Amino acid sequence: MSENGQTPSHIAIIMDGNGRWARKRGWARIRGHKEGVESVREITRECAKRHVKQLTLYAFSQENWKRPQREVNLLMKLLKDFLIKERDEIEENNIRLTAIGRISGLPEDVQRELAIGIEESKNNTGMILCLALNYGGRSEIVDAAKNIARTIKAGEMDLNEISEETFKKFLYTSEMTDPDLLIRTGGEMRVSNFLLWEISYTELWVTPICWPDFRKRHLEEAIKEYARRERRFGGLRE
Ligand code: IPE
Ligand code: IPE
Ligand code: MG
Repeated sequence: MSENGQTPSHIAIIMDGNGRWARKRGWARIRGHKEGVESVREITRECAKRHVKQLTLYAFSQENWKRPQREVNLLMKLLKDFLIKERDEIEENNIRLTAIGRISGLPEDVQRELAIGIEESKNNTGMILCLALNYGGRSEIVDAAKNIARTIKAGEMDLNEISEETFKKFLYTSEMTDPDLLIRTGGEMRVSNFLLWEISYTELWVTPICWPDFRKRHLEEAIKEYARRERRFGGLRE
């Protein structure tokens, strides 16, 4: 087995297990979300330090609206606070903030802070921090298909021009490389509608550690494991 020996240049994370982390301690689920913000800080800083090119964080799925209103409200408040409080840190670390998902479906105050963060950091040349917000992998593909149909209808594209490469250009992730490593915390062995198109050859790493406990050393472990993997992309070992 030949190891790839590399550092993943794009890491995506399904930050799961906040609620269970809190419940285990007899606390409200919400406390887990609050604690999870500290993990976001540490992992973002660490990835930037390691010259990871992109970190994509699944922060709120399209399906998460199904949760009790109180929990949704708190998640939106935490998100807004994060966007305001982390501005300096983002600047200091030369991070460029981006977002994927149906952003127009987020509360207006969150949209506003997000837009400011994206605008202020747009010329930064370091790591890209991409937040998946109101994100669903299937709707990303549906939105792309709709936009392609619209473009063809307007006579700006021909049916025969649809290929994997052109399709990619219509995804929220058009400007990004596919993730090399997908980490899921909280132990569930599923993808939960995250980056369906983009992860076809991504290396998966699941840890039972819940997100609020996820620290630098766990990230290191994942990166080490990634380096040991052999990536074949359907081909054969050289
Ligand atoms: C992940 O933790 C945070 C979000 C989905 C926003 P959960 O809230 O899903 O925590 P568990 O999985 O119920 O423990
Ligand atoms: C995935 O976690 C979404 C985020 C981490 C934002 P969920 O907790 O929503 O996923 P399921 O419901 O366990 O599949
Ligand atoms: Mg969960």
